[in-house]
Amino acid sequence: MDILRTVDDCRRWRLRTRRDVGFVPTMGYLHDGHLSLVRASRARDAVTAASIFVNPTQFGPNEDFARYPRDEDRDLALLSDAGVAAVFIPSVDEMYPGGFATYVHVERLTERLEGASRPAHFRGVTTIVLKLLNIIQPHRAYFGQKDAQQLAVVRRMVCDLDVPVEIVACPIVRDPDGLAMSSRNVYLSPEERRAALVLSRALRLAEQRYADGERDAAVIRAAVEREIAAEALARLDYVSVAHPDTLEELDSVDGVALVAVAARFGTTRLIDNTLLGASAPAALDQRSPTS
Ligand code: PAJ
Repeated sequence: MDILRTVDDCRRWRLRTRRDVGFVPTMGYLHDGHLSLVRASRARDAVTAASIFVNPTQFGPNEDFARYPRDEDRDLALLSDAGVAAVFIPSVDEMYPGGFATYVHVERLTERLEGASRPAHFRGVTTIVLKLLNIIQPHRAYFGQKDAQQLAVVRRMVCDLDVPVEIVACPIVRDPDGLAMSSRNVYLSPEERRAALVLSRALRLAEQRYADGERDAAVIRAAVEREIAAEALARLDYVSVAHPDTLEELDSVDGVALVAVAARFGTTRLIDNTLLGASAPAALDQRSPTS
């Protein structure tokens, strides 16, 4: 596996690699959710590249940038074992050298949900993702449905700015008890981890209501809120039943709906979601932004 530390390293690697490149951007501290993206690329692309970069511009001033978990040696071993051909692992100075002054802003979509709680977050995400796409120049880039809003925002940016890449969505990977895998799960105490299961439980409830024929978004929202409110250790941030591309709140669930939740357990903020009315994850790959 080639380890690329500078943009120049990537440029040289890219000139040598003429075949289809699939790309998996990450912030490291890898788990099976990340590796599922690598496997999806390995199944489709001639060559898979990944990146590990804890991107400071997507963290707020009071967020966990400094203590975000890092384990470069373990991550590199996991990526190598998974068949990744090259990993880009730049320093902060390499990505944001002195004089850096350009940011990408996706309107509307970024003001809701995560954007409401984390004002500069998506500006940091879109800026780094566009930089990484420009540096690696992949044919396809793989993103997890776990970060559903990030996926919608990246799709919007790629569409609006004519970035020549196909964005592929991959399903959420969960621990056997239902907790969505996240690098931040290591912050949870045993009691908080048990309490955090309320998120996937509440989403299953939404799926059940939908399967029983409920189409009123307010009823589904209220059911999810009630379930989370019943968990003493959870501090609810939001429950949303929204269009998966525009993230506008729905009155009724006629087509596909994204049910997204965020809550704090102690100091750890977790997000999770499910799609109602989507037949298979593959259907997601076909969708493109509609507004
Ligand atoms: P990170 O949180 O490391 O996640 C990297 C990719 O893994 C994202 O596309 C995310 O949605 C996906 N992922 C995380 N947990 C997952 C799970 N349980 N199942 C499936 N996929 C999962 O997201 C970021 O990094 C950053 O914002 C990044 C895009 C790299 C830009 O800095």
